[in-house]
Amino acid sequence: MPPLTSTSALTAEERHAVSIVLNGKPRTGYANPRLLLSDFLRHELGAHGTRVGCEHGVCGACTVRIDGVAVRACLTLAVQADGRRIDTVEGLAEANEGRMTALQEAFRRHHALQCGFCTAGILMSLTDYLGRNPKPTEEELRDMLSGHLCRCTGYAGIVRAVMEVTGQATASEPIGEEAAHV
Ligand code: FES
Ligand code: FES
Repeated sequence: MPPLTSTSALTAEERHAVSIVLNGKPRTGYANPRLLLSDFLRHELGAHGTRVGCEHGVCGACTVRIDGVAVRACLTLAVQADGRRIDTVEGLAEANEGRMTALQEAFRRHHALQCGFCTAGILMSLTDYLGRNPKPTEEELRDMLSGHLCRCTGYAGIVRAVMEVTGQATASEPIGEEAAHV
């Protein structure tokens, strides 16, 4: 992905038009130069699926895709996203004829969320990651997931869901509907 830069001169005192393609649809909002992309999406465009946790790049909750690449929206300025394609969790089903994707269905089956606060970011990271590494080993997957903090510690279910959707068995837990009840 090319560097995120803006070509127009920005002044701190005024809000600037920011036009993005959000989940396939053109959207324009206004942002001062310091507004974070996470806040722009939630408060300016009303896309509340993107969560905000730590707001300093640690927890991963705010992860979205910019031109297909997973990025922390809390470490990105809204004006840097001008002209880019932004995909958020809302867009997963929208791009799948209104139905949850296979990954989302696997999360549901394997009870891969509890409070769900971390889930949107993890789904967006996994969508990027599995596109580049469609059959990760469990060790690779756990390493990737270490970039996301799940306060409910739902990692076991997340690992089971991803291993199932990538056509692999896990060493630890059985896969199936019954796993949703453990
Ligand atoms: S809110 Fe962005 S990484 Fe935590
Ligand atoms: S499911 Fe609650 S933080 Fe992950």
